[in-house]
Amino acid sequence: MRTETPPLIRLEEYRPSDYLIDRVDLDIRLDPHATRIDATLALRPNPAGEAGAPLNLDGDELRLVSVALDGAPLAAGAYAASPSGLSLIDPPRRPFVLRIVTEADPTANTKLMGLYRSSGVYCTQCEADGFRRITYFLDRPDVMAVYTTRLEADRDESPVLLGNGNLVDSGPAGAGRHFAIWHDPHPKPAYLFALVGGRLGKVETRFTTMEGRGVTCAVYVEPGKESRADYALDAVIRSMAWDETAFGRPYDLDVFNVVAVSDFNMGAMENKGLNIFNDKYVLASPETATDGDYAAIEAIIAHEYFHNWSGNRVTCRDWFQLCLKEGLTVFRDQEFSADMRSRPVHRIAEVRSLRARQFPEDAGPLRHPVRPRAYAEINNFYTATVYDKGAEIVRMLRTLIGPEAFRAGMDRYFADNDGRAATVEDFLAAFATVTGRDLTAFARWYERPGTPRLTATLAYDRAAARCRLHLVQTLPGEAGQDAPPLVIPVALGLVGAAGPLAGATCPDVRDGVYVLDRAEAEIVFESVAEEPVPSLLRDFSAPVRLDLALTDAQRMRLLAHDSDPFNRWQAAQDVALRLILDPDPDRAEAFAQALGRFLDAEALGDPAFAALVLALPSEGEAADALPRDVDPDAIHQARSALRAHLGRALRPCLERLDAALAPAAGATYSPDAASAGRRSLRNAALDLIAAGDPELGAARAGERLDNATNMTDRLAALATLALIPGERREAALAGFAARYADEPLVLDKWFAIQAQIPEPGTLERITTLQGHPAFTMTNPNRVRALIGSFAFGNPTQFARRDGAGFSRVADAVALLDSSNPQVAARLLTAFGSWRRLEKSRAAKAVEILNRINAIPGLSRDSADILARSLGDG
Ligand code: TRP
Ligand code: ZN
Repeated sequence: MRTETPPLIRLEEYRPSDYLIDRVDLDIRLDPHATRIDATLALRPNPAGEAGAPLNLDGDELRLVSVALDGAPLAAGAYAASPSGLSLIDPPRRPFVLRIVTEADPTANTKLMGLYRSSGVYCTQCEADGFRRITYFLDRPDVMAVYTTRLEADRDESPVLLGNGNLVDSGPAGAGRHFAIWHDPHPKPAYLFALVGGRLGKVETRFTTMEGRGVTCAVYVEPGKESRADYALDAVIRSMAWDETAFGRPYDLDVFNVVAVSDFNMGAMENKGLNIFNDKYVLASPETATDGDYAAIEAIIAHEYFHNWSGNRVTCRDWFQLCLKEGLTVFRDQEFSADMRSRPVHRIAEVRSLRARQFPEDAGPLRHPVRPRAYAEINNFYTATVYDKGAEIVRMLRTLIGPEAFRAGMDRYFADNDGRAATVEDFLAAFATVTGRDLTAFARWYERPGTPRLTATLAYDRAAARCRLHLVQTLPGEAGQDAPPLVIPVALGLVGAAGPLAGATCPDVRDGVYVLDRAEAEIVFESVAEEPVPSLLRDFSAPVRLDLALTDAQRMRLLAHDSDPFNRWQAAQDVALRLILDPDPDRAEAFAQALGRFLDAEALGDPAFAALVLALPSEGEAADALPRDVDPDAIHQARSALRAHLGRALRPCLERLDAALAPAAGATYSPDAASAGRRSLRNAALDLIAAGDPELGAARAGERLDNATNMTDRLAALATLALIPGERREAALAGFAARYADEPLVLDKWFAIQAQIPEPGTLERITTLQGHPAFTMTNPNRVRALIGSFAFGNPTQFARRDGAGFSRVADAVALLDSSNPQVAARLLTAFGSWRRLEKSRAAKAVEILNRINAIPGLSRDSADILARSLGDG
């Protein structure tokens, strides 16, 4: 263990700031190496703070040029400055003005936090604590100010100058330079500040809000790529319209800008009126983007736009409340996507991603409550737990109180907290007020880490036509047995041999939902005419693990007859998962027959849904179902064998689907959900055919690759081919790379496919790819595509028994940690499940984690992940 584990910041130690900042005037002269930031801050003592306390402004790697108080330079003894802070020992006990000049080198900023340059474009990233890398400030979300920003730059280098809010003035500034002044009337925390300067092309359109405000919406991208921004712009307009109808939330400025940059630590950022995006989530054309990319662009555009209310108008008091904006906004973007596409299909996709990312996090040493109580590095808490489990909590709240009360509660929340920095308590209080309900027990979802287990058993009494359903909730890993129970909405129904049982009654079930708020309960159904199969947790009504012992035949009854599409899909997943963990050829054959009947009857009616039924649980999900001794090779073999069996048994059926779903000759590509669904089923069919007969599969995938008219089909074919070793694969990979040599985002897909090949040779392949001209460790998308896909998407090779897979990721972390600690720390979280691996692999993981931990000068980001991963979690 390293000696200095980073110090913790604790929720219980929250205190209001001693000073507030009402107005910020920035004059920023952009220069590649010496950007001048002249900041004028209107400060005053906070009545809620400590009178006469010193003023401690945050800084991070700052270079101070000058500081003045109320127009006069400060005496040397009146302040203390370092790169990481500026303190006034005895500030005035009345409002005062501080003028601070700092200088920054945006070109040298490799951390991509604060002001940096991406392909020559000046941009900023301030969440969570990047503003302090631009100027000294009270960099905390409960300090909210009105910002005016004057930007000045060389006209040729930066013809476009964008800021928060509305443009109030612009013009020449002499010597080939020009300026733009932006004013944002809405008070905001510093983390929402942004600027952009550069040579950019744009597409734009107008939107009129429900209040009659005319808004100019624009998407800025690298010049020449404007046509690839059309879909994102359309998603902006649809998001604006949807937030008005679904939540009554109009936009509140005259302009809304989105800018795509190619070097970005995460997906996108909701800066007020100026959302900045990873270009991966903006740029799309049929030739370069898959259906999945289009869906992700739509969802992330919506997510950032929806933050304008859930995050910006109502912001967070402190970073412990992160789920207040992120969980709520994920819930909102999920509902948007569900309305734009197929609701059940989207719900299944949400749950798959929750299980793939959040369940393992919740089961390992990096687990934390949705509202953490302590952190060493806040950037490590932008997690699946905060985002996705946070969204599930909002969803459960809606299920518990009903959609009308939920909408009323949301209105109340926005009304009561507009312009404020709020807490989870403020959020729940709005719903308690409108419903008159006590939500204290429900609030435990925010506090308790870990995935609850819901165990259910059903007993049927034929003579009495009665069913008893016994439910028990447990939360493994918590000390002590008497932890108070969670409030779990269990949506449920009973399914008979030919469909849902209509006559059955249960007084405890309202609108199809039973609310389990005790550790254990039994509910009784009367008038149950035949022995039913219970369909529990419909639509995944709570983020729990369900233990319900059903036979394969009972599950296949659910697949055939349940009224709940989610549980139909779940039933097939459950059978498949058991077959992966406990292979059995006879049961596999029976499963294949049931799938065949399902596909013949329904696949062409809802291809997207059928494709999800065909997608077996991932290797990660299978590992996650095991408490210990995980052997990724065994899981891989079992899953591959099951796929091969299904591919052979279902071959005629898959061939029929493949033929029926072929696009009409000359058809043009459309990214809509129905067309995407047909492509996904057709490509899933080919992939399964290939699993059953690799020789044939390789030939057919090769053909599809050559004839594809869009990236979705081309990439699917390449992914199928990538699993079949041989000359054809290598030729296809080489051809793809040649065709897209000038398309970095497409080459990322090519890196990712190769990084996930489950063969020992993959390590060598990665070595070669790290030397590819398109690869660079300085671009986060490249790192995630190659190293990230390997660490998170190749369980057999990452967790190789000899430790070479772990070692490779460790080397990348070591290389990256000082230049971009956020991305390095994110890679390290791939080790989060090491404790569940079988002993020899677990020992290698620890050895390698300790090796990284010994690196001198490791970032706080990485040190924090290591300390928690190696700790006794
Ligand atoms: N608030 C952003 C979102 O979820 C995410 C974000 C947080 C981020 N910190 C960041 C993005 C740092 C980029 C870099 O929408
Ligand atoms: Zn967000």
